[in-house]
Amino acid sequence: MPNPLALIAEITHRCPLHCVYCSNPLELTSRNEELATADWLRIFAEAAALGVLHLHLTGGEPLARPDLAEMIEGARQSRLYTNLITSGVGLSRERLAQFVEAGLDHIQLSFQDSSGGPANWIAGARAHAHKLELAAWIREHQIREQQTGERRIAFTVNLVVHRQNIDHLEEMIAALEALHPDRMEIAHAQYYGWALQNRSALLPTRAQLDRAVAVVAAAEERLRGKVRIDMVVPDYHARFPKACMGGWGRQLLLIDPAGRALPCHAAGVIPGMFFDNVRDHPLAWIWQNSAAFQKFRGEAWMPEPCRSCERRQEDFGGCRCQAFLLTGDASATDPVCELAPLHHLIEDAVREHATAGPVPAAREASFHALQENTAGFWSYRTDPK
Ligand code: SF4
Ligand code: FES
Repeated sequence: MPNPLALIAEITHRCPLHCVYCSNPLELTSRNEELATADWLRIFAEAAALGVLHLHLTGGEPLARPDLAEMIEGARQSRLYTNLITSGVGLSRERLAQFVEAGLDHIQLSFQDSSGGPANWIAGARAHAHKLELAAWIREHQIREQQTGERRIAFTVNLVVHRQNIDHLEEMIAALEALHPDRMEIAHAQYYGWALQNRSALLPTRAQLDRAVAVVAAAEERLRGKVRIDMVVPDYHARFPKACMGGWGRQLLLIDPAGRALPCHAAGVIPGMFFDNVRDHPLAWIWQNSAAFQKFRGEAWMPEPCRSCERRQEDFGGCRCQAFLLTGDASATDPVCELAPLHHLIEDAVREHATAGPVPAAREASFHALQENTAGFWSYRTDPK
């Protein structure tokens, strides 16, 4: 059995933003269930011993944990390459310096749109201006590190695109380019958690997607050698599904804020699954023996047409959680696949939802006003206690 390469540490589900495309579970873990610092430091050491190379610190908003610098330092001591995935809300110039000092290797900063009004409408919070300020501080660190020859923190900007912002993609790329990132990740919303709940407002039309692909191709050409651009396409418009998580229990494991070990971020939606907890078992035992990790590992579970399909080692039959969410059967072929017996579910969703209908007008408002104005259009992610 191969070792996992990456650990996704969802260190908290608390978050000051309310993004409508959030893929966190609808039932979030509360603060008083969260693992302690010492638990996380032990997990990082166990992960490194198991062969994990990359640690992704995510949430919710990881900055909500006051012990984040300590965690980064612990991860560094365990020789993990540490990536902080953040909205930036709650990160001061001083705290950023602490993280860099503690050994942070990479920071991934999310953006919701190219300007404050629409970005704040999507996030349900006024956060855009602070993100721009933070990007400038990251740049200062990079320049200083370059001058002194120190290890340089890598910087990625991430943009989740969907029907409500995809037509601004050209402006967004220009705005993000001005922040001097090493990499841009342009990821179409994936329909889990809150995003699935809001699918009817988020699914792009085919024409929007085609324009976006052309915009990204032009930007790649223009920025070649300066900024790397990675694009994650919306699989509802693809012929074949994504190789979700690089295959179930093959490369990645995720620990949720309460210490449950999951093969992916959405596996909690599949009924009848039990997730062993890092409070009860070492990580190596969980990776090798936990029933949840074995459930869809390998090919024995596959039905036809996957079982005899020549693509099964490329996409591993697609996503188990999407299969469950759309068909009610986690071992069904992912309906995104054009060969899936239930592929019509995707075609129906695209036909029904991917149409550019009217949107609510008010955008610059308090969170409660936004919630009221957009009721029936989409639901903002709410925060756990
Ligand atoms: Fe992938 Fe299964 Fe579709 Fe083949 S039939 S492309 S393995 S999802
Ligand atoms: Fe769970 Fe894809 S999100 S397998």
